[in-house]
Amino acid sequence: MADRIMQKEIISDPFSPVFANYEITDTLQEFLALQQIYEAGIKEVKTKLEILDDEFKIKHDHNPIHHMEYRLKSVRSILGKLEKRGLEVSLESIVINLTDIAGVRVICNYVSDVYKIADMLIKQSDIKLIKKKDYIKHPKNNGYRSLHLVVEVPIFLAEKVQPIPVEIQIRTIAMDFWASLEHHLRYKADNEVPDGVRDELIECAKTISNLDYKMQGIYEELSKSKKKNLV
Ligand code: GTP
Ligand code: MG
Repeated sequence: MADRIMQKEIISDPFSPVFANYEITDTLQEFLALQQIYEAGIKEVKTKLEILDDEFKIKHDHNPIHHMEYRLKSVRSILGKLEKRGLEVSLESIVINLTDIAGVRVICNYVSDVYKIADMLIKQSDIKLIKKKDYIKHPKNNGYRSLHLVVEVPIFLAEKVQPIPVEIQIRTIAMDFWASLEHHLRYKADNEVPDGVRDELIECAKTISNLDYKMQGIYEELSKSKKKNLV
């Protein structure tokens, strides 16, 4: 009964074209199976990062990761992105064209932690790096900074091994602070941020970047003096 109601809701959903070429039950099952695999991708990456963070803490008395966030792209966002890019709306098209269905955001304490975490993860033998965009070395024009990776991770299913892409955004607390507020402001302004505000946001991004490197410097100084005291 519950299943029938769920199917009905999906058929009457304005985004039903995604199911158009399929028997509804098959499509639903295929879509749910697909979602489960992307979710497994998030779990794999999350566990890998937690293990690296724990190991780093034991070896260097410091946790590079402050916290992590995860999200599975919603059906609405998936369809919005396919339509915006003029791509076919089908399950195959989702798998081929979208690499950000599974998303992990890693918020680190210091800039150096961002690169340490990325390097340790990419080096793992079952991880394949698909794409890397370094918006820290090369910030976006609006001031946005973060390290973006798309990695492929193997998911071991009952009958096969399925490689799945996971988008990972790695940034400091300061970068995350700026990105969250910028996103919020852009949303408030319906994506049309006035020139003056845009300049102010760039200025804020610069201030925050300076702060990041200052905090990094303080951390390095303290680490050095701690080592000296131990000798
Ligand atoms: P999309 O995934 O379609 O956005 O394009 P892309 O493949 O060029 O991805 P890109 O690496 O530039 O950005 C992907 C994600 O990074 C976005 O979905 C946001 O979460 C984040 N991001 C990128 N640019 C900005 C920005 O200017 N401000 C904020 N707040 N977030 C951003
Ligand atoms: Mg995206």
